[in-house]
Amino acid sequence: IPVDSFDLVLFGATGDLARRKILPSLFHRFIIGQFDHNSRVIGASRSEMDRAAFCDLVAKALNEFAHPEDTSADNIKAFLDILDYVAIDAKSENGWTELGEHLRDDVVRAFYLSVAPGLFADIAGRLKTTGIATDDSRVVVEKPFGNDLATAKALNAALSAHFEEHQIYRIDHYLGKETVQNLMALRFANSLFEPLWNSSQIDHVQITVAESIDVAGRGEYYDKSGAMRDMVQNHLMQLLCLTAMEPPARFTPNAVRNEKLKVIEALNPVTQDDIARGQYRAREGGDSYHDHAGDPDSTTESFVAMKVEVANWRWAGTPFYLRTGKCLRQRSSEIAVFFRDPPHNIFEAGHPVAGNVLVIRLQPDEGITLHTTIKDPGPGGMRLTTAKLDMTFADSLPEAGRPQDAYERLIMDVIRGNQTLFMRGDEVEAAWAWADPIIDGFADNGKAPQLYDQGGSGPDDSLLLMHRDERRWREIGR
Ligand code: BG6
Repeated sequence: IPVDSFDLVLFGATGDLARRKILPSLFHRFIIGQFDHNSRVIGASRSEMDRAAFCDLVAKALNEFAHPEDTSADNIKAFLDILDYVAIDAKSENGWTELGEHLRDDVVRAFYLSVAPGLFADIAGRLKTTGIATDDSRVVVEKPFGNDLATAKALNAALSAHFEEHQIYRIDHYLGKETVQNLMALRFANSLFEPLWNSSQIDHVQITVAESIDVAGRGEYYDKSGAMRDMVQNHLMQLLCLTAMEPPARFTPNAVRNEKLKVIEALNPVTQDDIARGQYRAREGGDSYHDHAGDPDSTTESFVAMKVEVANWRWAGTPFYLRTGKCLRQRSSEIAVFFRDPPHNIFEAGHPVAGNVLVIRLQPDEGITLHTTIKDPGPGGMRLTTAKLDMTFADSLPEAGRPQDAYERLIMDVIRGNQTLFMRGDEVEAAWAWADPIIDGFADNGKAPQLYDQGGSGPDDSLLLMHRDERRWREIGR
């Protein structure tokens, strides 16, 4: 569905995220005809360059990061035609008048702040005082949205001094992933699952976001964050919220976000006993976390696993186990819902019956699998085995074409003015209020993260966390 004409100003237009994600996403949506030649993307950054130089930079980025089947010379040229560039300084008057002159009155105005959070306040302030941002302009900000509750509050205050909440789009790109939205469709557009979606029927839930990459090249940022700030406070929290939340009355931004907020507010504090932290060690002849972080004494975690309790009527007694880490066996993210065992086994001893497991695979290979117990086919009497009811989207919905990047959907939602897949200010603050004591506890208990081998499934403490509860993690990527 085409979106209204827009002027999108991309601050930080020469930066890494812009080149890798934002510009290629805009390009793909342009190529499929979702916006017309009247819409404009105006790059803005401190670098002094003219429009032609910016177009060169964008063409290079598209050739490197966009899907090759889209990057014909004609397609790229057509996209470059909608670009403009303004050299601008967040800290001074330079460039702001010129930016104002580039913008039109009768189209949607969006300002994408793909810059360090330290510049949010300056840019938001100048957008408002110069009159460049109007009452229905939109402002988009990226993570990290704060480093703790105090800094998140300060960012919220800086933005809300100039913009209303309905104008602010805080990106968590996990919300733009296809299967994350499918989680809501699965739960709220089917009759089968929701009646079972509670602690009477569900034994526990495992949320895994495993990555095979290390932190080389971004060690300086990562070492100040660790897995807890980089992944759990935001991405895993969003997955937890969508899995655990009550059905919103409507699929509207505030109805959905109210329910997510209630989940965060229902979380029990997590004690250090319920957490396993790890740090990857060197492979033979290779680098360790310390080499990548640039600090031989770093105690930042590159892996974390924890047991989380959603203390409300629906979930009391059903733990949620979260884990995420770098340098693991493979890139694999999933939500696995373990149903309780059948109450009684009518089959012979030696033919155990087991609870079903519903696995929602986020990436790669998006899809949904239900593990079931069935009769082993063929002769030999009533023998039981397990089989998967499998829906891999690429197989069952081939006409859906290639998966879209989360950013494509999110940027178009900004233009449409739909905030459902963006975090509200109070939600971000609640997530930090939950995460802060956990992170403080890492320092207080003085325990260094346990080392783990690259290419495995994390430190032994993570296995023990489950073993203690007589449960096991699903194998990563199986
Ligand atoms: C980012 C984190 O927000 O998400 C990275 O900063 C992480 O450390 C990335 O690698 C994971 O995103 P995706 O889409 O590749 O799962």
